[in-house]
Amino acid sequence: MVLVRHHYQLSGSSILSTAIAIIGTGYVGLTTGACLAHLGHKVVCADIDPEKIAKLQSGVIPIIELGLTELVNEGMSAGRLSFVVGSVEAAKSCDIAFLCVPTPQGEDGSADLSYVQQAAEEIAAVLPFEAIVVNKSTVPVGSTKVVERALKRPDVKVVSNPEFLREGSAVQDFLKPDRVVVGSDDQAAAMKVASLYDGLSTRVIITDPASAETIKYAANAFLATKLSFVNAVAAICEGVGADINDVVVGMGSDKRIGENFLRPGPGWGGSCFPKDSRALIKIAEDANYSFDLLKGVITVNDQQFERVVQKVVQAVGGETTEKTIAVWGLTFKAGTDDLRDSPSIEIIKRLLALGSKVQAFDPTVTNSKPGVPEQLNLSLSPIEVTVGADVLLVLTEWDDFKWISPTTIATTMNGKQIVDARNLLNRKDWEQVGFTYQGIGR
Ligand code: UGA
Repeated sequence: MVLVRHHYQLSGSSILSTAIAIIGTGYVGLTTGACLAHLGHKVVCADIDPEKIAKLQSGVIPIIELGLTELVNEGMSAGRLSFVVGSVEAAKSCDIAFLCVPTPQGEDGSADLSYVQQAAEEIAAVLPFEAIVVNKSTVPVGSTKVVERALKRPDVKVVSNPEFLREGSAVQDFLKPDRVVVGSDDQAAAMKVASLYDGLSTRVIITDPASAETIKYAANAFLATKLSFVNAVAAICEGVGADINDVVVGMGSDKRIGENFLRPGPGWGGSCFPKDSRALIKIAEDANYSFDLLKGVITVNDQQFERVVQKVVQAVGGETTEKTIAVWGLTFKAGTDDLRDSPSIEIIKRLLALGSKVQAFDPTVTNSKPGVPEQLNLSLSPIEVTVGADVLLVLTEWDDFKWISPTTIATTMNGKQIVDARNLLNRKDWEQVGFTYQGIGR
């Protein structure tokens, strides 16, 4: 039942400090905890991993996230941010506990709620009277009820408050959000959670839990749809001799479309879009709707990985065996060290399966990182990786790659072929020194 549907602007500067427990100190939990401490709240972040907590207690941030180190240090020095092992320790004296634990993809595509349930069960006995539990993890519609059942605490209200944080700009996204979404059947609990964000100037949307949970999935699925759409149009551009960059500017100038989030690439990936789009298809199925549009979006994305592979095949004249491919970039996008569901890793695996030798460089990745394919040779520099290569393949849009001299690479490589799956490099500069350049949609 919808209790309140309300849109309003908050821009207050004086906020009431609330005692907050963050359960799960990954990307979302750590950013949320550090930012809430920055807004003046007293935050205790908990994790089951003692090593991670020890690092955080000594000011070492285990992830790459712009501005996060500064916020963590600020919060700790001000005495507003601390780290503990175990959820019970954090939850026992909080007003509000945020569940920020992972919801990995289950076998049937649905989100696996076991960590969420487990966390709720762990803290149930120690939560103070009338505390609030907030679901920040991306959870299927109906999960608020799942948490309520796990807690078995009628005095504790459960609120959905999905995150819209992009890796690499998560701090900025938290502190300057397009909106805050709060879903609850209890008006007082919803208002209390909304008031945590009083220091921010933004629109707060207060709705029922199912709508809040649906907003999160629908937003990610729509963004993935935009990307598959632009990659599909890029394929058409290649066929008809149009330039996708100009097409995007022309399309995006229509305010109803907008230019944001329309950069063509090697396909979309990361820890959210692939998992969340499959979960939404499953949610739809359970609600007796076959989400064919979203299934098509995933198919187009898979085709995009293959289109990049085929560009490399074309660059080596059709025979990939024993050809050496130098790859720039392994992470699923620039600004993060995350390899989860990275298009780059998927494309490399397909090239290895075709018998190519692949050597790669990424500024944030070393051989020991989980997710790096065993047969992949990693280099220490973007220039070294090109030595003896037949093709240079750009898969992540790291800014540094833009400034590497084509003249230098012309001397290190064996062939003069470039496949730029991010349209990152200046085509003319590379063609001038004899390279054959293939981008996406141009
Ligand atoms: C995404 C959403 O953007 C966040 O709003 C959301 O909160 C988050 O998932 C989540 O659910 O936790 P993120 O996974 O960090 O954030 O990555 P994005 O920046 O959205 O990029 C996703 C993929 O799309 C990447 O592979 C990226 O390279 C690709 N992309 C993005 C493009 O190919 N072109 C673009 O124009 C934008």
